[in-house]
Amino acid sequence: MNGSPSSPHSAVYPGSFDPLTRGHLDVIERAAQLFDHVLVAVVVNPQKREPLFTLDEREAMIRETVAHLDNVQVDHFRGLLADFVRHRAGTVIVKGLRVVSDFESEMATALMNRSLSAVDTVFLPSDPRWSFVSSTLVKEVYNLGGDVTAFVPPAVLRVMQANRPPHPVPPNVSS
Ligand code: PNS
Repeated sequence: MNGSPSSPHSAVYPGSFDPLTRGHLDVIERAAQLFDHVLVAVVVNPQKREPLFTLDEREAMIRETVAHLDNVQVDHFRGLLADFVRHRAGTVIVKGLRVVSDFESEMATALMNRSLSAVDTVFLPSDPRWSFVSSTLVKEVYNLGGDVTAFVPPAVLRVMQANRPPHPVPPNVSS
């Protein structure tokens, strides 16, 4: 979707990225091929729960991971995504869909965002290699002492290994 010189497409890819996974990276790389610019927008306060990583950590891990992509930038936002997209002159929102059930809530969100900002959402289906990989599952495996090497980019793995919880739960131990 390369825009003409008069209508560049500037995509905003929002998320908690707590942490960035290989699935997120795959979406960013594909969006970078489709659009003139991609802005990875890290939400300051994820709605679900207290993030494992600070905003600075999440942004730094993403910046290092996307350093090879000239048309990708990283920023953060608080409040409404629709306001941020308007403020940054975004022309499209990008979302990854991992499984069919993601679509139901994402559809409502896309329609709300279009209603608020007149900006449409483009869904990119997850690469099947990463369709089971979510930040939530990665954190669960990590917190229980498991190996997350296959699921996160090297810059993320480095930070996770440096911060590793000191006492992973040993197998077959009941509390
Ligand atoms: O990675 P996540 O946690 O699925 O990302 C969710 C995110 C950040 C895209 C979503 O929570 C969001 O857009 N938050 C901003 C608040 C907002 O605009 N809410 C109204 C959406 S209809």
